[in-house]
Amino acid sequence: MADTKVYRASTTAPVNIAVVKYWGKRDAKLNLPTNSSLSVTLAQSDLRTLTTASCSASYTEGDSLLLNGEPSDVSGARTQACFRELRARRAALEAADPSLPKLSTMPLRIVSENNFPTAAGLASSAAGFAAFVRAIANLYELPASPSELSLIARQGSGSACRSLFGGYVAWRMGENPDGSDSVADQVAEASHWPEMRALILVASAAKKGVSSTSGMQQTVATSGLFAERVSCVVPQHMEGMERAIRDRDFAAFAEITMRDSNSFHATCADTYPPIFYMNDVSRAAVRAVEQINAAAGRTVAAYTFDAGPNAVIYYLEKDTELVVGTFYHALGGEVPGWKQTVVSGLKPSLSLDEG
Ligand code: ADP
Ligand code: DP6
Ligand code: CO
Repeated sequence: MADTKVYRASTTAPVNIAVVKYWGKRDAKLNLPTNSSLSVTLAQSDLRTLTTASCSASYTEGDSLLLNGEPSDVSGARTQACFRELRARRAALEAADPSLPKLSTMPLRIVSENNFPTAAGLASSAAGFAAFVRAIANLYELPASPSELSLIARQGSGSACRSLFGGYVAWRMGENPDGSDSVADQVAEASHWPEMRALILVASAAKKGVSSTSGMQQTVATSGLFAERVSCVVPQHMEGMERAIRDRDFAAFAEITMRDSNSFHATCADTYPPIFYMNDVSRAAVRAVEQINAAAGRTVAAYTFDAGPNAVIYYLEKDTELVVGTFYHALGGEVPGWKQTVVSGLKPSLSLDEG
């Protein structure tokens, strides 16, 4: 009798917010970046993707993805690359052990929910593809390391390769044409700097007008400033950021974070026609951070913006009242524009499956 059993596995993955940004592909097919990047995984925040992968010979509709309750296209090259890589690894296990069920031949059904705005500049593609790849890897019982899963997730969305690790994570751009060395590694565990906090300010939950994929390709093709960012600015920021994290030097961490966000948005403005991800509300957050720092006479907070208007503010636990007090009571509560604020901790653990 035909095997109509349903096999199933679930996982969650957190967002990560880059402090040195990935923006630009040198190979759009393999999703290889023009520069290395570095991020902080917000593993203890409320921002996460929950994904269940199942497979069964009875799934006659073929591979499918239900994203936030809506059927989503899986025919794109990047989703297909993830399916292909994961199936090939499962097929190798099945070839080595014929007693294993032939999951690699069965259609996959993926059901995924983001509990935060999708495609709004809060790294949904990062948490989304990290969860996508790990859910299928769990379903297939692959003996894959976070590094190997990172390599696969990168092909779904570049930033996703960093969400397979906790703490401070670097994505090394690599140099091999096949992308085999373009993978993330952990620079430091979250427990290395347990005082680090992030405040997320949601200015708009609306889907961005220009996706990250399309925006960065327009920047690479048309911005003159971009070459300078890739060759000079980012290498300096990567080196300085790794040092700042190693030394737990918040002032240096903050300055590089803010400079890199500004540099990235400058290349967006230098794209032709220009791309504007930040809005008036975003700029109010920049001013508020400057005021907090000036009033304190030291660096208390750092802002950063991904490809969207929403702010992430990094600060240290001891300054919670100062930062959250200013934003939450002054901005979050009363100033129009901010829809939601979320305070996040960073989980001092490598494992992401524990929640
Ligand atoms: P963001 O700033 O949110 O990362 P992007 O433009 O980079 O925005 O990517 C958004 C796209 O990522 C969505 O349109 C969708 O295709 C994909 N995505 C988001 N969440 C998920 C998920 N949970 N599972 C699979 N794909 C997802
Ligand atoms: C501004 O990883 O979303 O958030 O690889 O095309 O899916 P694709 O792009 P994506 O780009 C992220 C851009 C960023 C910076 C960052 O996360 O490093
Ligand atoms: Co994204």
